[in-house]
Amino acid sequence: MSKRFTTNHNITALACFPLLIWSMASAVERLLWACIILDSGVCSISLPAITDLKFIEECVKEHNLARSSVSPPATDMLYMTWDEALAITAKAWAKRCIFDHNIYLKNAPRVHPSFPSVGENIWTGSPPSQFNTTKAIKRWVDEVRDYSYQENSCNKVCGHYTQVVWASTYKVGCAVQLCPDGIKHFTSEKGVLFVCNYATAGNIIGRRPYASQGGACSKCSDTCENKLCRKYQVSLVQCEKLLLIFKQTTSSNFSPAHFKDVKILIRNQHGY
Ligand SMILES: *[C@@H]1O[C@H](CO)[C@@H](O)[C@H](O)[C@H]1NC(C)=O
Repeated sequence: MSKRFTTNHNITALACFPLLIWSMASAVERLLWACIILDSGVCSISLPAITDLKFIEECVKEHNLARSSVSPPATDMLYMTWDEALAITAKAWAKRCIFDHNIYLKNAPRVHPSFPSVGENIWTGSPPSQFNTTKAIKRWVDEVRDYSYQENSCNKVCGHYTQVVWASTYKVGCAVQLCPDGIKHFTSEKGVLFVCNYATAGNIIGRRPYASQGGACSKCSDTCENKLCRKYQVSLVQCEKLLLIFKQTTSSNFSPAHFKDVKILIRNQHGY
């Protein structure tokens, strides 16, 4: 079983505007500019941590949006959920500031405690202000333009797209890294690396990312939501929480709203 990996090159010469006039300004003007810049955050950049809930939601949402939008529709596309271990692996690799794939991917136990294989997509850009989680993922998804589902062939680069919409891949974990001293194999300027790791790995040569014969969700084992297969798996711990909620709630005031809370709890922690 072999995997094919591709990388994504993206260079944009976008300078931080106030810096351009910096050299032409007097000392007082410079001071003023410094205040304005610091105050507006024009030149400062804060990148999300792997525990940032908004970042996690953006990553998961954008992947599932792409997965539910495939054409032709998929019979067996699993809903994707966040995996902390994959995010930790992505962060550990991104920290090295190298625009290349994690050299330990071939050795699955080194990159994830339980999955037999892990895939990876990498986006890089400079300057750092250019980074946007949603846009970076969209860049991968845009490769669909060069991909033919009928032929299972690719014109340019499609590997990022096919990994994003690989039906059996149901876990994702991403990380962003600021690289102040440049990114090896990409730029000597300050840049950003965005790495997503996936389990189990997609991009198995000779296979399509998903099956389509039979129509959307026709091969889901549990429920279907937005053309994606979802599964509600209850662990022992969750059963205890569930029981607790039921105990705290008498039958007279138990409402569907409570049930929704429980469902969300289960979804976020397990399965897809
Ligand atoms: C990132 O891009 C998306 C889509 O273009 C946009 O809606 C969002 O506001 C952007 N986020 C930031 C922080 O600029």
